[in-house]
Amino acid sequence: MRSRTGRDEIDYSKWSGVLKDLSIGLMRSLCFLIVFVIGIVVGLLSGSHVDRYFTLEPYTLGPNQASLNPSSMCINSVVGTIAAEDRNSMESFSSPKNVSHGMSDEELLWRASLVPENARYPFDRMPKIAFMFLTRGPLPFLPLWERFFDGQDVRKYSIYVHANPEFQLNVSNSSVFYKRQIPSQYVEWGTVSLVDAERRLLGNALLDFSNERFVLLSESCIPIYNFPTVYKYLVKSNYSFLDSYVDPSRYGQGRYNRQMRPDIRPRDWRKGSQWFEMNRALAIKVIADTKYYNLFKRYCTHDCYPDEHYMPTFVHMFHERLNDGRTVTYVDWSLGGPHPASFGAKDITESYMRSLRNNGTTCSYNKGTSRVCYLFARKFEPSALKPLLEVASKVLEY
Ligand SMILES: *[C@@H]1O[C@H](CO)[C@@H](O)[C@H](O)[C@H]1NC(C)=O
Ligand SMILES: *[C@@H]1O[C@H](CO)[C@@H](O)[C@H](O)[C@H]1NC(C)=O
Ligand SMILES: *[C@@H]1O[C@H](CO)[C@@H](O)[C@H](O)[C@H]1NC(C)=O
Ligand SMILES: *[C@@H]1O[C@H](CO)[C@@H](O)[C@H](O)[C@H]1NC(C)=O
Ligand SMILES: *[C@@H]1O[C@H](CO)[C@@H](O)[C@H](O)[C@H]1NC(C)=O
Repeated sequence: MRSRTGRDEIDYSKWSGVLKDLSIGLMRSLCFLIVFVIGIVVGLLSGSHVDRYFTLEPYTLGPNQASLNPSSMCINSVVGTIAAEDRNSMESFSSPKNVSHGMSDEELLWRASLVPENARYPFDRMPKIAFMFLTRGPLPFLPLWERFFDGQDVRKYSIYVHANPEFQLNVSNSSVFYKRQIPSQYVEWGTVSLVDAERRLLGNALLDFSNERFVLLSESCIPIYNFPTVYKYLVKSNYSFLDSYVDPSRYGQGRYNRQMRPDIRPRDWRKGSQWFEMNRALAIKVIADTKYYNLFKRYCTHDCYPDEHYMPTFVHMFHERLNDGRTVTYVDWSLGGPHPASFGAKDITESYMRSLRNNGTTCSYNKGTSRVCYLFARKFEPSALKPLLEVASKVLEY
């Protein structure tokens, strides 16, 4: 019994060993064959996609077809963008019309950081001002801004709106704000997501190679000078206007986190209003930074407010000679407390608006001084719109 069983077992195991070897070999070849065939099929498929994009009209693949194949969507959107731009030739660099795209933040910021090696533009480059609106929802002063832009040379400005993703700015197709909403994400005030939104706005605006100056504005901001004055002031300035100062209190130095050492030392720490104005050179430096951005993202939390410290500190540390260190957006902090004063209908008088434009002081401007310190002002309540529209033509000159 034992020996038979033993022999049987030996025989069986012998056979099974041979069978096993055979089947493993077969399986291997089969697997190899399957992988090989899949490789060929995938190769052919993606090859045909690229071919179709380059040889046929872009967008011949409808959105439904594209979504059937999620793995190739990334390739398709990148290739699609290139194809669309080829179609528009130089126009997509000098004044891209479409602010919509499928790029992630990482892709967008990388692409926006590209700088032409050849400083001579092959097109007539009229420097533009990018007006970048950071808002949650509606823009209550839209009629005022419409009046500000009315009749101005469209080659001198561009508009970008970052709002909550589900918010749709509803304006007529004749508005300068029509189709100017950029792909956006949720912003939680006081967190790094606010800095992300600012960098996202800069990234989108940098894709237009004609944009030379970049102003960040909120829904409560208004212009206090007319467009020609604002344009000349910014385009002729050699410096950016990014608020950056030392606040020794616990609301300034007190927010410094020792874990940022040794890259950011306490004496490097700066504070400033988030409502910046910067030139192209500085904007590129800001969006190209990942090291200091990541330090702030990691260590500027819990009552730190990255939007008030990241750019002021980064610009102070590395690009101070590009910056005037002051802001061109007026705000009234005279009441004290964590929020600035806001102005409603009752506050809007001719004399008050005149005092915002000039109260007798002067500010640094290039190598000299200027009687114009502020170009924009905040915070205005929606009720201020009507009196502002009345006072605009008389005092604000637009
Ligand atoms: C703008 O770009 C988006 C995404 O790239 C595309 O879906 C849309 O059709 C474009 N719009 C126009 C008017 O070209
Ligand atoms: C947009 O505005 C128009 C006219 O003001 C109005 O008829 C339409 O319902 C609005 N659409 C949305 C989505 O709010
Ligand atoms: C703007 O909208 C109006 C009415 O909705 C339409 O008749 C007109 O063709 C549109 N113009 C453009 C340039 O799309
Ligand atoms: C004018 O404005 C500046 C800056 O806000 C302020 O420091 C100064 O006190 C103001 N001067 C007058 C006379 O109001
Ligand atoms: C701006 O900077 C350039 C280069 O540093 C200099 O040549 C020019 O004079 C400056 N312009 C003004 C108005 O300060």
